[in-house]
Amino acid sequence: MSDFVRIVEVAPRDGLQNESAMVATADKIALVDRLSATGLRSVEATSFVSPKWVPQLADAAEVMAGIQRRPGIAYPVLVPNLQGYERARAAGADDVAVFTAASEAFNRRNINASIDESIERFMPVLKRARADGVRVRGYVSTVLGCPYQGEVPLADVVRVARRLHALGCYEISLGDTIGVGTPRKAKEMLLAVAAEVPMQALAVHFHDTWGQALANIAACVEAGVRVADAAVAGTGGCPYARGASGNVSTEDLVYMLHGMGLETGVDLEALAETGRWLAALLGRPTGSKVGKALARE
Ligand code: HMG
Ligand code: MG
Repeated sequence: MSDFVRIVEVAPRDGLQNESAMVATADKIALVDRLSATGLRSVEATSFVSPKWVPQLADAAEVMAGIQRRPGIAYPVLVPNLQGYERARAAGADDVAVFTAASEAFNRRNINASIDESIERFMPVLKRARADGVRVRGYVSTVLGCPYQGEVPLADVVRVARRLHALGCYEISLGDTIGVGTPRKAKEMLLAVAAEVPMQALAVHFHDTWGQALANIAACVEAGVRVADAAVAGTGGCPYARGASGNVSTEDLVYMLHGMGLETGVDLEALAETGRWLAALLGRPTGSKVGKALARE
């Protein structure tokens, strides 16, 4: 099994989408560029959703135009439908992510569609992407619980992940949107999906609302997953998931993975520096324990 874990840094998208105070476009660009310089291989740059739904990311095209695209780094962007795909393409994106959920109630609130309707919307996106040579990632939210529905049956998670993979998504990111999962459940969920979708095509995406994210990732990495999403300074949260808070912080994740003898290619000092810069920009303490510990040294 490979000892390299690819981290998908999601702070510029998941980290910022929930911020009520507008972040300047220049700062968003600086965030992506700083993250790109730390050794990360994937930096989710922004989101081409409806600006009425997520006003903070209305400047997605300007962000894409302003960032320095380093060779060897993927810059995926969220697209909810063909309109989002077209905007993303016009802005030069060559890696996009579609997103749906394992829970009907959450999906309705997040993208105003049932799971089936959302997948219908993705079909033309995937078709166009194939023709354009664009890579498509797929997210499944609420894999370990839903703020509206409560328990989410494992079979529903597996079914949605399998459908996204069958449609041609190169990677399926399994999202514990409200951070309620615990390690044994997280591992069981991952293994249930991995029975239907190859482990190499899976990623985990943990929010840390209940303080379980690192433990969950450790369990999933031990079970074989080699891609994990994280947000520097522990930023993040979905505006349509009541109570959802930050993603696992990238600094804490890198520290843990290196401690487990795994490689990430990430320069932890440079990453922590960026985390402190972002926390200062947002006017609050960093959500990363490792970031705080390094600042004290
Ligand atoms: P809707 O209102 O049902 O859409 O929203 P519609 O097709 O009826 O269009 C309504 C208006 O929006 C129209 O404009 C469209 O042109 C416009 P109007 O005629 O009223 O002026 N519109 C768009 N504009 C720009 N870009 C677009 C776009 N699409 C439509 N792409 C829609 C449906 C999906 C658009 C909306 O619900 C939406 O944008 N939702 C996004 C919500 C979101 O971004 N949530 C956070 C990301 S998901 C997440 O955080 C979870 C994740 O991190 C994993 C995890 O943690 O679990 C990924
Ligand atoms: Mg998320």
